[in-house]
Amino acid sequence: MSTKKILVTGGAGFIGANFVRYTAEHRPEYRITVLDALTYAGNKDNLAGLDGVELVVGDVCDRDLVDRLTADTDVVTHFAAESHVDNSLYDPEPFVRTNVHGTFTLLEAVRRHGKRLHHISTDEVFGDLPVGSTDLFTENSPHNPSSPYSATKSGSDMLVRAWARSYGVHATISNCANNYGPYQHPEKFIPRQVTNLLTGERPRVYGDGTNVREWTHVDDHNAAVHTILDHGTAGETYLIGSSAERSNREIVELILELLGHQADAYDHVADRPGHDLRYANDSSKLRALGWRPRYGDLRQGLADTIAWYRDNQPWWQTHKTIAETKYAEIGR
Ligand code: NAD
Ligand code: TYD
Repeated sequence: MSTKKILVTGGAGFIGANFVRYTAEHRPEYRITVLDALTYAGNKDNLAGLDGVELVVGDVCDRDLVDRLTADTDVVTHFAAESHVDNSLYDPEPFVRTNVHGTFTLLEAVRRHGKRLHHISTDEVFGDLPVGSTDLFTENSPHNPSSPYSATKSGSDMLVRAWARSYGVHATISNCANNYGPYQHPEKFIPRQVTNLLTGERPRVYGDGTNVREWTHVDDHNAAVHTILDHGTAGETYLIGSSAERSNREIVELILELLGHQADAYDHVADRPGHDLRYANDSSKLRALGWRPRYGDLRQGLADTIAWYRDNQPWWQTHKTIAETKYAEIGR
């Protein structure tokens, strides 16, 4: 087995930390270095117990640091981002900085050193689809972002596409649907509702709750990233999604049932401005490379996730208090 070095930006956040854990468990040929600024969303405890993983605390916009780390790796997987739509509506500046300038900084480093890059993105770059339709996003769907978050992720994807075409940078892109699983910050929809119920509060659904998301377990996302690293073609984009579409109301009702509450024991709160209606991906291009979601059963995946939050209250309690203070300021 020959050893490869992998640099994981944003590896102390939700998906990045799960990627590091997944890689350490399933792909022992990789030597892992994490670059993470440890913003409010990053937590070095997410990497606890992982011997041999090096954590470099630093900024993906720091040219010299990124250059040095990129020179000393074989592969870069770029998870680092500002990732929450509500925060982007409140204060978009860090989104432009990290998502656009951070990706630019990394692209210049992989260009200088001729390294392989996989860029992690979101299906939100494509805008939204009508509720009730069977339309799906494809790799050829035009970008039509709605929020500062999705606009800056779209900008980062466009930079990667341009660097691949004009400079021959060996890069791939994936646009994944909404993720769920352990270590997700309690500002996000599923952990917010679960931790509300675990602390005696009621779930809070934006607007009428008919907005639809395609829920993909974080391990399925990360398995897909490895499939693309192993079998993807440079310059190509791959959509990732489980096909498990649910309205926000359906998700909240399932969480309520799994925690032994009445199905209607939740509140509707003010809607999010510009709230995207529905996301759904055609992931057949990725499936042709051999990837399949292992968590086909959303109910079981959610039950496991709820159990993780129940068992790990010290991990989320402080984050939750801070997140709920912010939500109170914007009335949601
Ligand atoms: P997250 O907010 O949980 O984690 C982001 C991580 O990036 C944190 O550890 C943070 O400290 C780090 N970071 C932020 N700014 C940085 C900077 N300037 N320099 C270095 N590190 C920095 O986000 P997540 O949910 O794990 O998302 C990871 C990636 O996956 C993002 O690119 C996001 O757009 C994408 N994505 C997320 C979802 C989802 O449902 N969460 C779905 C599809 C794609
Ligand atoms: P979120 O986890 O913020 O992901 P995204 O906006 O990137 O899809 O939200 C998922 C869905 O849940 C979205 O339609 C907004 C909605 N939502 C609520 O209804 N209540 C909440 O408290 C939160 C945080 C989100």
